[in-house]
Amino acid sequence: MAFIPFFVAWMFIFKTGYSLCFPAENNIAINNSSSSLMAVPSNLPNQTEILDLSQNRINEIHIQDFASLHRLRSLNLSINRIKNIANASFRSNQKLECLDLSKNELLNIECQFLHNVTSLKYLDISYNRFLSLTLGIVFRFLKNLEYLGLGSKEAMNLQRSDLKEISRKQLQEVSIGLESLSEYDPGTLLVLRTKKLHLVLPSAGSSSLFTMILRDAFMSSNTLKLSNIECYEECSNYIIGFKALGNFSRVSNLLLENLTMTWQDIMGIIQPIWDTKIKNLSITKITLSDIRSAVFQYSDRVLESLSIRELRIIVFYFTQSIIYNFFAKIKVVNLTISNSDLIFMTCPEQGNYYKFIDFTNNSMTSDFFFQDCHFLNLLETLILQQNMLLHFYKVSSMTQYMKSLVHLDVSQNHLTLNEKTNCLWTNSLKILNLSSNRLTDAVFSCLPSNIEILDMEKNNINIVPKRINNLEMMKELYLGSNKLVRLPECNNFRNLEILFVEENSYHEPSSSFLQTCPRLTRLNAAFNPFSCTCHLRDFSRMKENTQIDLLGWPESYQCIYPEKLRGTLLKDFHLSEVMCNTGLLLMIILGSMIALAAIMGLTCHFLDLPWYLRMIYQWTQMRRRVMMTDILQLNENLTYHAFVSYSQHDSRWVKEQLLPNLEERENPFRICLHERHFIPGKGIIENIITCIEKSYKSIFVLSPNFVQSEWCHYELYFAQHQVLSEQSDNLILVVLEPIPQFMIPSKYYKLKSLMAKKTYLEWPKDKSKQRLFWANLQAAIGIKLTTSKEETLM
Ligand SMILES: *[C@@H]1O[C@H](CO)[C@@H](O)[C@H](O)[C@H]1NC(C)=O
Ligand SMILES: *[C@@H]1O[C@H](CO)[C@@H](O)[C@H](O)[C@H]1NC(C)=O
Ligand SMILES: *[C@@H]1O[C@H](CO)[C@@H](O)[C@H](O)[C@H]1NC(C)=O
Repeated sequence: MAFIPFFVAWMFIFKTGYSLCFPAENNIAINNSSSSLMAVPSNLPNQTEILDLSQNRINEIHIQDFASLHRLRSLNLSINRIKNIANASFRSNQKLECLDLSKNELLNIECQFLHNVTSLKYLDISYNRFLSLTLGIVFRFLKNLEYLGLGSKEAMNLQRSDLKEISRKQLQEVSIGLESLSEYDPGTLLVLRTKKLHLVLPSAGSSSLFTMILRDAFMSSNTLKLSNIECYEECSNYIIGFKALGNFSRVSNLLLENLTMTWQDIMGIIQPIWDTKIKNLSITKITLSDIRSAVFQYSDRVLESLSIRELRIIVFYFTQSIIYNFFAKIKVVNLTISNSDLIFMTCPEQGNYYKFIDFTNNSMTSDFFFQDCHFLNLLETLILQQNMLLHFYKVSSMTQYMKSLVHLDVSQNHLTLNEKTNCLWTNSLKILNLSSNRLTDAVFSCLPSNIEILDMEKNNINIVPKRINNLEMMKELYLGSNKLVRLPECNNFRNLEILFVEENSYHEPSSSFLQTCPRLTRLNAAFNPFSCTCHLRDFSRMKENTQIDLLGWPESYQCIYPEKLRGTLLKDFHLSEVMCNTGLLLMIILGSMIALAAIMGLTCHFLDLPWYLRMIYQWTQMRRRVMMTDILQLNENLTYHAFVSYSQHDSRWVKEQLLPNLEERENPFRICLHERHFIPGKGIIENIITCIEKSYKSIFVLSPNFVQSEWCHYELYFAQHQVLSEQSDNLILVVLEPIPQFMIPSKYYKLKSLMAKKTYLEWPKDKSKQRLFWANLQAAIGIKLTTSKEETLM
């Protein structure tokens, strides 16, 4: 049970760091780093919270320098030439939490200037020119201190009294540079109560010096970092120091950094460490100057993790199996070898404990790596990011015996698969990262059947084929930065919840694919070359119409085409329903036509529009004809403007309406009525004919009565005389009452043809229309007869 609190602490220390020293989003930060400053600038804004003055040439801090910066939280004065800091320089900076004074030329470690700066959490005074490391009494009052960086280029010894002032503090981390140390007072480090201790070891020293330092270091904290173990020639002093650890160690997490030695030396150091209570061993920046086989006792102890980062081998010829055998035999749960140019690894031996292997950024090739490896049956996670893997099929066959493998990351390799292939994946695989490879559509023939999370971003995929194996379990599919020309449908992975298809090449995604993906909750389709046309309309409304979390919306969804919409956000792109829906468009056109027809119908019905139109047309026609009539062509015998013929039944209308309107006007028309101008001794027909011949126009008032009683007189006359031919303008037909076609006897050819061809004037019953009727009739008659003739006639 003791393991758990420790583990939490380990995570805490390595995950959090000292973020308080760096600007967060809302901090007011001033960066004057590397600005050749000789002194602290005087014009700093009073609100400054984070101030970086590192890497300048400041050589002194005056009492006024930071006096106005009441909000200052973090101050970096590292890498300057500061020799002296006036007392009370930070008296106004009550919020100062982070102060970096490392790599300056301070001589006095008393640090009086820290008096009352109680808010301080992070203090680095390492690499100054202190002659001793005896901390002053002010350190006792830094009650919030979490991190202390110490060390000096000049201090040669470390003694118990030096760290006395911080001996009761529960610090998170202390870092002490001991490069120049030659004397160490045993037990000094033991006064520290810190979770993490970082020692930069002396560059040289006797084995007893190392033995004393290492023994104390291993007893004082849980997490120990040791830097600077460089043995170019002789390493035995260090090795002796490590060997002396025995059972004293409290360290669970050991980090070794900046090592230069031979393979034999590093084995000599790791062997004693392995036998302590250590759980996690991490080695960073190690240079191997020679590799020869070394004896290693593979004890029963199982390490939780072994990490090796930045391993450099500077010999050309060596037996590679020396290294591989070590890793094949050790008992470790998590193994990381990263950034190390590793080209191969043999299959670990039976009974290994590997659950997690991370070989990020090496030079592994796929052809033989872990092929036919039967003993990685505990392995759950295998990370082969950034290697030289080429054959995708080989990657699948590599996993076939790894029956616990859940997560495989082969991203950032050169994987290809040229044709459809049945692959040999282990059934346990659930998370597969294939991003940044050279895979094409064929990859879909070679996917593990139980996959849940599949990352294939940054490949060369054009289309997700419709016919692929069912991937029922798939929940997350990442296909960003490919060359997809259309959105994939989820028919073969109906349980998909997350789909990333950003930065592809499709123009007009429709939202219909959603119907095949009933469980989709997140979609990223940003940065595609959207064509803002009707096809895109549903898609651009997806955000409004679905619950799906659309990543990057709205700013990353822009129209590329058509040109005039380029850069428009899809959110702002609207095409009306009508423009995009042909059915609707047709309905609207038909609808408006019907409406128009209805309006016209109604207008006609209530206002008798056609009647008006006809009357106006006739009127204009008549005006035209009248204008064209040359008065000289008129027959000299004409006496009357018009002759009117009508039935006795209609005589009332003629006398009350027609005659007053024609005769009682400003320029009265002379009208010939056969009864009025009856010449005795002549028969009716003769009289009528005389009238017709003396009149310029003949008006027939047509009604059923007229047709039945009067017309017979004319039918014969018209047949014999051409005077009133059909073409003649002299005939005016006024239809007083509608005459149904059947009422016209078939022998009246003339009337039928006249009625059929000639436009006639209809008498409107409606009073308001009658004015127009008269105007028309007057215009039709309209002719000036010479007055002389008028007189002779009278
Ligand atoms: C201060 O600046 C130096 C150099 O720019 C940098 O290396 C160091 O990490 C900074 N210190 C803190 C505490 O941020
Ligand atoms: C070991 O690897 C597992 C799986 O990635 C991880 O959860 C765990 O934190 C690792 N343990 C250590 C001590 O690194
Ligand atoms: C796959 O690996 C890449 C790095 O190569 C990483 O950025 C990405 O987040 C990983 N994908 C998943 C789903 O974890």
